[in-house]
Amino acid sequence: MSSPRSTVILGTGSYAPARVLTNAELALTIDTSDEWIRTRSGILERHIAAPGEQASDMAVHAAQRAIADAKLTLADIDLLIVATITPDLPMPATACIIQHKLGLSTATACFDLNAACSGFIYALDTACAMIGSGRYRHALVIGVEKLSAIVDWSDRTTCVLFGDGAGAAVIGASDQPNIGLIGTKLGAYGDCVDMLFIPGGGSNAPATTASLVNRDHFIKMKGKEVFKYAVRGMEEAARDILEQHSIPANQIALVIPHQANLRIIEAIAQYLELPMERFFVNLDRYGNTSAASIPIALDEARRSGRIKSGDLTLLVAFGAGLTYGSALLRW
Ligand code: ACO
Repeated sequence: MSSPRSTVILGTGSYAPARVLTNAELALTIDTSDEWIRTRSGILERHIAAPGEQASDMAVHAAQRAIADAKLTLADIDLLIVATITPDLPMPATACIIQHKLGLSTATACFDLNAACSGFIYALDTACAMIGSGRYRHALVIGVEKLSAIVDWSDRTTCVLFGDGAGAAVIGASDQPNIGLIGTKLGAYGDCVDMLFIPGGGSNAPATTASLVNRDHFIKMKGKEVFKYAVRGMEEAARDILEQHSIPANQIALVIPHQANLRIIEAIAQYLELPMERFFVNLDRYGNTSAASIPIALDEARRSGRIKSGDLTLLVAFGAGLTYGSALLRW
């Protein structure tokens, strides 16, 4: 197979569990208020997986919608990359579980990728490189999170921010030049691991009775510090990609940022000197769904007509690691 030309998003899909948890409901169980959450983060509600509903189940719904949107069948997919920090199991990869539940061929290459909230952009870049090599035909890239399973519901500084959901995209090759993925910028501040992490349960600190008592298996976050790095990382990722391709920010029709905090998105808008109308925002309804955040937003943006043929779209994210990334796409 010769090396294909452009790598394009052929279809998208998303899924959120039916259960909606409002700020007002949270205020019944922890010392918080709708007003605090709304003004500090912009979040009004989030979706929470049903008992027994696994990350892989949510991913399957999003994937089916993306494959249908791409007008392809399961037989067309030969690569599956799943970005997640909430795999069904520590081992094996959730991608293998999804392959089976979805009914993909056993000849489909399957792996998970952990770049937290930047995970979808990392996975998109990886998929495009693998498709661009000509060795794979169609990739299914999924960002899925069941963060409700790893947040400490007694910690008001974190639990109000997160939600569950899944988003997916199907990637293929195109003969048409200058469309699809134009470029990416990925990076990480590896010296900031302890700003946002789960201390227990890994090989460094396997589960013990003490680790359970210490609640070490839940997300720990230094919110203020993460906020500063989030703005810095997303600005850097946005600036670098635009400079690399000599594209002025005002040519971007729509920015799809990671949906963590409205104030972070407003800071990026100010930095890029773009009006907020150029930013897709749905965190009010989902909260922060980590790796699922950008593909859910991308799917909603496409389906609501916010992305038109020829448009330039900028995806930009940051997350635990602390990772950051951007991707520039022409439709
Ligand atoms: N309800 C009421 N009060 C609260 C709550 C709450 N849910 N949470 C914290 N507070 C209190 C604090 O205890 C503090 O009280 P104190 O002054 O008496 O100590 C006060 O509110 C102010 O807290 P701040 O930390 O100053 O609030 P801030 O304005 O920084 O907002 C927030 C906090 C929303 C966490 C912000 O820092 C933030 O968004 N940070 C980035 C976090 C983020 O995006 N993380 C996701 C990373 S993505 C990933 O990889 C998973």
